[in-house]
Amino acid sequence: MRILVTGGAGFIGQNFVRYLQARRPDHSIVNLDKLTYAADREFVEAPAAGPGYQFVQEDICRLEKVREIARGVDAIVNFAAETHVDRSILDPGSFIQTDVYGTFALLEVVRELGIRRFVQVSTDEVYGSTEGGAFSEASPLNPSNPYSASKAAGDLMAFAYWRTHRLPVLVTRSSNNFGPYQYPEKVIPLFITNALDDLPLPLYGDGRHVRDWLYVMDNCAAIDLVLHRGREGEVYNIGGGHELPNIELTRRVLALLGKPESLIRHVADRPGHDRRYALDCRKLHALGWRPTHAFDDALAETVRWYQDHEAWWRPRKAGAFQEYYRRQYGELA
Ligand code: NAD
Ligand code: DAU
Repeated sequence: MRILVTGGAGFIGQNFVRYLQARRPDHSIVNLDKLTYAADREFVEAPAAGPGYQFVQEDICRLEKVREIARGVDAIVNFAAETHVDRSILDPGSFIQTDVYGTFALLEVVRELGIRRFVQVSTDEVYGSTEGGAFSEASPLNPSNPYSASKAAGDLMAFAYWRTHRLPVLVTRSSNNFGPYQYPEKVIPLFITNALDDLPLPLYGDGRHVRDWLYVMDNCAAIDLVLHRGREGEVYNIGGGHELPNIELTRRVLALLGKPESLIRHVADRPGHDRRYALDCRKLHALGWRPTHAFDDALAETVRWYQDHEAWWRPRKAGAFQEYYRRQYGELA
């Protein structure tokens, strides 16, 4: 199988490329990424990628270029997106461009070239927030912020192509991922790296918001399963089954690092902050998937990874990131 992975220089995308290289050596991979601020240039420049691997710097919105690159591929797995909720509140334009228009451009390429499989990597955020119970794949979409609204629009476009053109579309909606190579704007790597520097950890609002944590390699295994065994025209929820209020997550990170809870700062809440995400994943369980990484072990391993990879994260928190940090966190920065 020849697979076009878009956004394969980002956090989940690069872990997915590694997953495929380890588990499916018969597959060849084209990694297409625009290399935005969130991308890992070191990963795409690494010669370790192997013979069945090629990297192309490109924007998924440039349909003509993508069509050329996609010629001869059997499947596309679309990770490419603007992904940070706080940035979508500050500057939503690029989210609409990439997450909506970019998804449309890829669907057009799939239609024109007759590509056999298109996996749209989406998010549990499209369902919005729930105080009780869990969202199934049939739950209505109710996004709260420009990021999740743009992802929901991408999902709807994918299903419009399934209904209209019978395009072989599959959508995954996962909960919050964590693990190595996550850009340090997201809460777990931000809090680990701030704590390592004895900087305050900016906890939004009362800190009682709940996320369901999923180790990135479990997500990669699920996406791989959906790519190979999922049913076209279907959505698959992917949840870690490990819900935690943010304050509890923060305490665990600090405990793992041996840092004091006095580093926690309650700051103004994120506008439109979803209170809780929770997923019913029985559909994916029926396909044979279960998370295999215990949360506490995976969190400890992730903390260790950031402790051991200061040379990776420190440059990513310098330069333009500092500007963003000041804009987002104001006087705390
Ligand atoms: P990320 O921000 O770490 O990486 C995104 C990658 O996409 C970057 O390498 C970036 O350069 C690339 N990209 C952005 N715009 C592009 C464009 N126009 N053309 C080509 N490449 C472009 O994101 P992530 O956390 O790895 O998320 C990957 C996907 O998974 C996204 O679609 C996201 O919505 C989804 N998702 C993420 C999570 C999570 O917890 N991180 C959870 C559920 C779903
Ligand atoms: O649920 C899946 C989604 O998870 C993905 O679709 C998104 O791409 C990904 O960014 C993530 O979104 P969240 O908004 O849930 O992740 P984030 O790491 O930004 O925040 C997690 C929780 O921590 C959330 O309740 C907000 C809170 N938080 C976050 C930051 C960055 C803080 O309290 N302080 C912070 O500084």
